[in-house]
Amino acid sequence: MSLPTRVQLIDVGPRDGLQNEKQPVPAAVKIGLVQRLQDAGLTEIEVTSFVSPKWVPQMADNAEVMAGITRQAGVRYSVLVPNMKGYEAAVLSRPDEIVVFGAASELFSQKNINCSIAESIERFAPVVAAARAAGIQVRGAISCAMACPYEGDVAPERVELVARLMKDIGVQRVDVADTIGVATPHKTRRAMEAALKHYDLNNVSGHFHDTYGQALANTYAALEMGIWNFQSSVAGLGGCPYAKGATGNVATEDVVYLLHGMGIETGIDLDKLVDAGQYISDFLQRPPNSRAATALLNKRS
Ligand code: HMG
Ligand code: MG
Repeated sequence: MSLPTRVQLIDVGPRDGLQNEKQPVPAAVKIGLVQRLQDAGLTEIEVTSFVSPKWVPQMADNAEVMAGITRQAGVRYSVLVPNMKGYEAAVLSRPDEIVVFGAASELFSQKNINCSIAESIERFAPVVAAARAAGIQVRGAISCAMACPYEGDVAPERVELVARLMKDIGVQRVDVADTIGVATPHKTRRAMEAALKHYDLNNVSGHFHDTYGQALANTYAALEMGIWNFQSSVAGLGGCPYAKGATGNVATEDVVYLLHGMGIETGIDLDKLVDAGQYISDFLQRPPNSRAATALLNKRS
């Protein structure tokens, strides 16, 4: 067993985190959050999504947020895109990367993007081709890679299938997502192995929601496999509006604490990251959903 010496984190707080908030979060606050994340050393930030505002009203200010961020050299800004209409709007905002998002479960695909898995791939194909032709990177999210809120357990073969379909249409790297945060390490390992049948170690990342408190254990299990890309959310923000009861992604602060504690480099300043989490938590009027951030904030006061 040899753990990676460096880990690349994508903070998905501004998108996955805030998409689920019922109260309106002004574009200026989202822009402020992106700024604080890049100040803390995050070099990949999922900023927003170009989805239907009827489906996810919180992301309706996507173009305003993208226009308002101050881009920093060396930082990759990504956005979610479900279809050509979303791509055409997104491209005007000059994202460095787009994320097409499919699922390993048919019912979740229907509930989340209103089409079957096969239809989703058909929709993504021209989007991926257009993005690649324009020099924009393409990532693919595989939701419900371990379990589905509507279908229950999801077999690794389903993940392998979607990974293959994504690879065939030109998606460059994939996120293996535990959308509802129910997986434990063995289940996680099998889902990651399934994606690794079609993508190499550099192009598979873990996206773990923390509903049952297993996300750090799952992260460790993936690290043991050599996976070194993960998504996490500052202050543990978030959830998916189409996965009821699921809580946010694992908190970036907790992942950074884990990694630094094992001597794994992230390029992130944990204190500044805690400040970023505090900033958005103050706005939302609740404490950060991160054990490490809470401990560090208690120590400060
Ligand atoms: P639909 O209703 O089937 O779409 O929704 P449609 O093509 O029939 O169009 C219906 C209306 O939406 C039309 O407007 C379109 O113009 C408009 P109308 O004529 O009624 O006024 N429309 C759009 N507007 C803006 N941007 C667009 C767009 N597309 C159509 N891109 C659709 C299909 C995919 C649009 C819808 O289901 C949708 O927006 N879903 C998004 C759901 C979502 O954002 N979920 C959360 C993100 S995924 C996630 O969180 C999981 C992840 O974190 C990984 C994990 O944890 O699992 C990534
Ligand atoms: Mg998610």
